[in-house]
Amino acid sequence: MMHNRLLTVAWGALTLIVAAGSEVVALDGKAVFAERCASCHNATGPAPASLEGVLERKAPDLFYAGSKFNLDWLEQWIQSPSPIRRSGVMFLNHVITEGGKDRINEDTIKACPSKLNAEEAGSVTEYLMALKDPKMRTGVISRDKKFSMAQALRLFTKQYPCIGCHTVKVKENETGGISGPSLTDAGARLNPDWVYARIMDPQYWDPKTWMPKIELSHEKRETLTLFVVSPK
Ligand code: HEC
Ligand code: HEC
Repeated sequence: MMHNRLLTVAWGALTLIVAAGSEVVALDGKAVFAERCASCHNATGPAPASLEGVLERKAPDLFYAGSKFNLDWLEQWIQSPSPIRRSGVMFLNHVITEGGKDRINEDTIKACPSKLNAEEAGSVTEYLMALKDPKMRTGVISRDKKFSMAQALRLFTKQYPCIGCHTVKVKENETGGISGPSLTDAGARLNPDWVYARIMDPQYWDPKTWMPKIELSHEKRETLTLFVVSPK
């Protein structure tokens, strides 16, 4: 924030305005990002269009961060990141075969090194939250809408293969696959309208993602979205 102290001195008909100068120079979030984050994160787009590009991607794309994240979560997380992708940004880069079985070698997975202080985080968050996808529909999902948990679990774990790639919390227990991002904290992290749009057309956001595009009615997609973002 810029704190410009203005001293106004009125003397007769004459008004003198003396700018006492800025005590704090506003941090430029874009510049902080360019210096500390852009070596790994793509904030300008587009997403990789080839498998090689996906294998080389070092970190999640952030060029639609303003559509994807909740502001409060983003500002906190970039000060003190916690793991979201237990198989890394691309699981194929971390698979090892031992005794004929594949497993993820967690030793090779790197965490996000972002350790911004509060002021830096504020300016970077302001920069990132302005990066919105102009085509995404907003106002689609209302967080408070009631949904059937039993139906949501059936859709997520049985009818469609979501649970194979995503970890969720069911009755206090974390369960599910790890080739996609964990969704246990998705309510705090993700904008519900974006979750809806991401489920509707994964390849719109990331042409070479391995999340399948599944034809769903609006009602089923809405139920899955409400389930994903519900506090658990
Ligand atoms: C050395 C590479 C690297 C640098 C530099 C880096 N990050 Fe990251 N970042 C990552 C990786 C890897 C992840 C994925 C972590 C996970 O999913 O657990 C990540 C995840 C993120 C996420 C969550 C994205 C999502 O879609 O879930 C945000 C936000 C983020 N980083 C912001 C930043 C900011 C801000 C900076 C600069 C201050 C930064 N990162 C610097 C590698 C990096
Ligand atoms: C074959 C694995 C796979 C399946 C099946 C799958 N996903 Fe995904 N999903 C992914 C991957 C990979 C990503 C994005 C990876 C990234 O951002 O690092 C993703 C991203 C998401 C996201 C955004 C999360 C985030 O933090 O970026 C949501 C929400 C989501 N999937 C929900 C679902 C739902 C609901 C289903 C079932 C209808 C489903 N997924 C099925 C692999 C899968």
